[in-house]
Amino acid sequence: MSRRGGLLGGGRARSPLRAARAAHRRKQEKQRRAEDCAPYRRTLVYPKVGSAHHRRATVRFWRECVARALHRSVPTPFYLFSAEPIRAALREFDRFERLLPIPVRHWFSCKTQPLAPLLRWWRRAGRPIEVVSEFELRAAIEEGFSPEQILVNGPAKDRWLPGVAQPGLRVIFDSRRELETLLPLAQRLEWSLGIRVRTTEECDPERPGCPTQFGFEFDEAVAALRRLRRVRARLEILHVHLRTNVAAPAAYERALAELGQLCRAAPFQPRYLDCGGGWPPAHTRSLAGRPFNVEFSLSALAGVYRRALGQFPGLRELWLENGRYLTARSGVLVLSVIEVKTRSGLRQLLCDGGRTLHALVSTWEDHEILTVPQRSGPRRLTGVYGPTCMAFDQLARHPLPRSLRPGDRLVWLEAGAYHLPWETRFSHGHAAVFWHDGKRLTLARPAQSFAGWWGQWSASARHRPGQTPGARRR
Ligand SMILES: Cc1ncc(COP(=O)(O)O)c(C=O)c1O
Repeated sequence: MSRRGGLLGGGRARSPLRAARAAHRRKQEKQRRAEDCAPYRRTLVYPKVGSAHHRRATVRFWRECVARALHRSVPTPFYLFSAEPIRAALREFDRFERLLPIPVRHWFSCKTQPLAPLLRWWRRAGRPIEVVSEFELRAAIEEGFSPEQILVNGPAKDRWLPGVAQPGLRVIFDSRRELETLLPLAQRLEWSLGIRVRTTEECDPERPGCPTQFGFEFDEAVAALRRLRRVRARLEILHVHLRTNVAAPAAYERALAELGQLCRAAPFQPRYLDCGGGWPPAHTRSLAGRPFNVEFSLSALAGVYRRALGQFPGLRELWLENGRYLTARSGVLVLSVIEVKTRSGLRQLLCDGGRTLHALVSTWEDHEILTVPQRSGPRRLTGVYGPTCMAFDQLARHPLPRSLRPGDRLVWLEAGAYHLPWETRFSHGHAAVFWHDGKRLTLARPAQSFAGWWGQWSASARHRPGQTPGARRR
């Protein structure tokens, strides 16, 4: 046995010199850590967002809905979506329409919120749907939308559209290749046609100097419109979609001026002008705390349209495909706090849901968080994390009540747009989904079970080595 006091090292008296050295090392280590965290601490200051907070009635509405859902004993995490906020958005759409000289048709952007009970609710109201994939088109058909109530949009659809095509659809071509491949089918099935134009306003939001990959460039668009006219196609629609969260109405003004020029050059008089989506919803803000809609106003936008529509004689309707504006407000994500840690002055809540699985938009967006039960009192800066083994899984960093504790629920608002389509599993199952039609609350989708998750491989699990699944079937 050594002088150090055996394997357990117990009972060893340290010399004053060793103790001083150890204390010095600890001090140095603490200082190093503090320096490592210093830039991080500076970024912990939460921006003032004042006006971006919700009205009391909205908060009360969600608290009541969440309480009803929790009463059902469905475990968190879950999403809860409601038709009520969508009704409110539709009232805003109506007010916008009253400011314009022509009717406005609002297409439901299916990819934004592919939620079956919402599609049914929307269809029962006689409203139309915009789809951008084979599955979305098949869902629209299955839910009973008639072909003229379906607008097929998006790139590279010549790959899948012939397999599910129906007479009477409305289809927007995204490229020359699509147009040439689909044109014979379009004429046989009497589709109402249009083209998407990439105006110079439409750039990659992450690299503003760089064009997006969508639509026809100006000269290509002139050629495409002439070609469609020459073959006497049912050409009716001119389409543009700038981007999501368009900051100010002036962007539409510039884009519409380019479309006006195009129509004069082709020449072409569209029956329908489809200006896509992009209106920024309230209560969502950048990670720096700036609400996306600070420069946006519907009355200013209506002014833009009133001035611009004169460039399109013969126009019957303005079409819009707003996703976020309509649905962001219509849902919440409910999580439970599992564990609380504190490190480098930051309180950390480890939860059963978060960014990776449920809220990819939190990579660039910040939303308000409610606590259940409603905790009050002093707040402290708090990081909210999901359950996956990734540092990326950070939902938010907010000042939250000090009194929060494990078992409390967090309610992440504005979860109604682009949360379901960007769900991941990351070795967890999909969360449960509640639907509130304004009165009734129903479980629209149970949480995914282990069998549901692992069962996706069942065909290959039955397959014996050396035998392809296809060969077995034969
Ligand atoms: C063609 C088209 N229309 C509508 C939308 C909906 O956009 P937002 O949710 O920003 O309104 C998108 C979104 O990318 C789109 O690409």
